[in-house]
Amino acid sequence: MIHIKTREEIEAMRPACRHAANTLVMIEPYIKPGITTDEINDLVHEYTIRHGAIPAPLNYHGFPKSVCTSVNHVVCHGIPGDKKLRDGDIINVDVTSIIDGWHGDTSKTFYVGTPKVRARKVVEVARRALEIGIEQVRPGARLGDIGHAIQQYVEGERCSVVREYCGHGIGRAFHEEPQVLHFGKPGTGVELKEGMVFTIEPMVNLGKPGVKVLRDGWTVVTRDKSLSAQFEHTVAVTADGCEILTLPD
Ligand code: MF3
Ligand code: CO
Ligand code: CO
Repeated sequence: MIHIKTREEIEAMRPACRHAANTLVMIEPYIKPGITTDEINDLVHEYTIRHGAIPAPLNYHGFPKSVCTSVNHVVCHGIPGDKKLRDGDIINVDVTSIIDGWHGDTSKTFYVGTPKVRARKVVEVARRALEIGIEQVRPGARLGDIGHAIQQYVEGERCSVVREYCGHGIGRAFHEEPQVLHFGKPGTGVELKEGMVFTIEPMVNLGKPGVKVLRDGWTVVTRDKSLSAQFEHTVAVTADGCEILTLPD
């Protein structure tokens, strides 16, 4: 069942969504060669607690940290650790915050130092893929329209879309219906209605779409070791289009 949110419920989601977005703004200046992903985790954790929020990833299905940090060929769900970032790396930081029981989920891929040509390519394609997905959102459109628009664009840029992970409804639950696929056929799937709230979070690979999960049970990597980038927003379907809820102050 897809939960349609009332005006009041969407208002209630704003603090968590804004907090998650503000966390990405807070972390950006720290994304420099030499910082470890554990240090990023600690900064996100402290900032979240200090603002009266809860980091949703911590202990979520046993996830051991407060944020996902996915470097280079890591697609998503990277676990912070003691590895230092190096000049030319890319890193996705995926923040999900809970305030008053409501979730906000957003992520961004950052350049560490000076990006190489291939890093720039995959990151800019992923950034635009999310924008194109969001442009499809309005009452009467279908989930397949979002997936199709993203897939057409990404494949037209000679990159690929990850199939195994998708966007999701969000609210009192971290992940709820519907699944928001980042590929598909126009005019298919669930019809969007005012009050639906979900994430769009395309994972874009520079090489082939295939992924695998490492032995830690979480870290998702590209099979061909190619670079992967991702951006994510939580959006609400409005009467005449959509509103991005995960914008910072
Ligand atoms: N934030 C991720 C998403 O966009 C989910 C992370 S689950 C975790 O849906 F357990 F790895 F944190
Ligand atoms: Co998400
Ligand atoms: Co996320």
